[in-house]
Amino acid sequence: MNNLDNISLRMKKYEDIISDTLRDLYGHLPEFEKWRAEIFRIILTSIAQRPQHLLDLDILRETTDRDWYLKPDMVAYMCYPDRFAENFRGVEKKIPYLKSLGITYLHLLSVLRPREGHNDGGFAVADYYSTNPKYGTMDDLTHLTDALTENKISLCIDFVFNHTAREHDWAQKALAGDPYYQDFYYFFETEEEPKEYEKNLSQVFPETAPGNFTYCDDAKSWVWTTFHPYQWDLNYKNPNVFMEMLKTMLFLANQGIEIFRLDATAYLWKEKGTNCLNLPETHKLLQVFRGIMSLAAPAVCLKAEAIVGARYISKYLGDPAGEKPECQLSYHNALMAALWMSLATGDVYRMAMMIKSLPPRPQGTSWITYLRCHDDIGWGVLTDDRQASWAASKEDLQELNDFYEGKSEKSFARGRIFQKSGQNSFHGTNGTLASLAGLEKAIEEGRDTDIRKAVARITLLYRLIFSFGGIPLLYMGEEVGLFNDYTYDKDDPLRDGRWLHRPRMPKNDEKDEKLKEIRLELFSAVQSIAQQRQQQPLLHADNPTNIIDSGNRHVFSFTRQGDKGILLTLANFSSERQRIEPDVFVLNALPERLVEQFSHTGHNLAEGIILEPYHCMWLKA
Ligand code: GLC
Repeated sequence: MNNLDNISLRMKKYEDIISDTLRDLYGHLPEFEKWRAEIFRIILTSIAQRPQHLLDLDILRETTDRDWYLKPDMVAYMCYPDRFAENFRGVEKKIPYLKSLGITYLHLLSVLRPREGHNDGGFAVADYYSTNPKYGTMDDLTHLTDALTENKISLCIDFVFNHTAREHDWAQKALAGDPYYQDFYYFFETEEEPKEYEKNLSQVFPETAPGNFTYCDDAKSWVWTTFHPYQWDLNYKNPNVFMEMLKTMLFLANQGIEIFRLDATAYLWKEKGTNCLNLPETHKLLQVFRGIMSLAAPAVCLKAEAIVGARYISKYLGDPAGEKPECQLSYHNALMAALWMSLATGDVYRMAMMIKSLPPRPQGTSWITYLRCHDDIGWGVLTDDRQASWAASKEDLQELNDFYEGKSEKSFARGRIFQKSGQNSFHGTNGTLASLAGLEKAIEEGRDTDIRKAVARITLLYRLIFSFGGIPLLYMGEEVGLFNDYTYDKDDPLRDGRWLHRPRMPKNDEKDEKLKEIRLELFSAVQSIAQQRQQQPLLHADNPTNIIDSGNRHVFSFTRQGDKGILLTLANFSSERQRIEPDVFVLNALPERLVEQFSHTGHNLAEGIILEPYHCMWLKA
């Protein structure tokens, strides 16, 4: 079959789905049919312009390699190019480093040209068709993409499509009075309507950017700005906004981007009287983006960044039956926050209950499992469903905050609170993995036993996210245990606390011998976990994750079951040795003899299992 046959087959498969979903969103508009025809013209033009090697990749991924993003060999790494390796060319030189960690997926932050000055770490894009000048040109990016492809690493970038920078051409034209572009944003002449909306909205940055609207002097109007005053929310009720963002996505897909991280996905559609989060139209928009990518660039994956309550996140993967697919991937932010809660309390009960309560993932989708990223750990996800038996109370969250700020007596962490908006109101915690897991404090205090515990905590968390079910994601510098960067707020009047955990990768010249040794130890621990994962077919994302009751509140346990057997993960979150009784294994019909995959030690489950403090085992029949 040649490319054309494939494309016409795809057209048959997706044309109606795309048209029907577009009709649901925009069918009531007078010029809908003309507009719909224009959308298909854009899609066909994009296919015609798609480079041959990407057309070939499309065919490969829709035939023999459909599950490429579900395979156990997927391991992700995310970084700011300048903090990691200066620029795109520098990143290219680091490909061997990434490969030595088993990386197959690289997420680069702030790739497209942001506004100058404050730009929310690159999330205020001024131009989607050019690159961040700090890192290089579009040609440099293409060079890097080619090199990554040669090395079988897929490139992921942020697709910031909920808002643009105020400096973006559309916003500038709107400010200059062009009504066509004024309709790209939400402008209000008086404060009445914003106040009406505000009644139901939450706030993302209550401390540094309170409210969801900003008065714009130049426009003599209020503008919708969910995030910062310079990030203007796009109006998806206007079909031309959808059309322009689609063109952008198709253009970038043709540059070789393989994974789009859909930024702030949950906020796309707004309706008065609602909290403007997770609305049905937002899901429809994702369904239509997915349908169009399946037609125009099926090699591409969409990843939802929906930092919302546990009960909402799986919806971004589509309906459980897989009839209305949305993103292939989604961040498991609920698991991430729950892991940190369990580490602080040493108790996994709530985490287990929460994960159990989630609807199953549709086949063909996967989580991104992670510990840290460039954002804070948002605790809200743990209280979102107050009725749930696992929900944390305000007091629990206060304790978590105190713990990770290092305030409570038992704390090993060195974090900082993020966006405190009142005595008992806060958004989350900042800090690097190593600083939050106790390594920074232990090294500073020079206590070997505490250092060992911190390393054990980090290894525990990694072994868990590498086997849970999804693509494990490493955040730059974690693999060598980078500590918080306390210099971040020196020249930053906004004092965005998230820069605390965005340190630069150190040069290879660590003087402190102890630290050097530990960095190497962590690096090889991550390396061996990644290698182990790659050898375990049971970790394919289509094999379900079943949480089992370990009969011990300190031990989180789950199985991954496939045709060829079962893999059991046991993770002890306490600083004490723990025992799992034999009846747990009998009740869950687990085979009697299992072999631990890292130590190659055989275990007879009839004798029960002992787990050392903060130890995580992968046991296989
Ligand atoms: C996402 C980004 C975050 C940014 C926000 C607004 O949540 O991860 O860093 O501030 O979107 O774009």
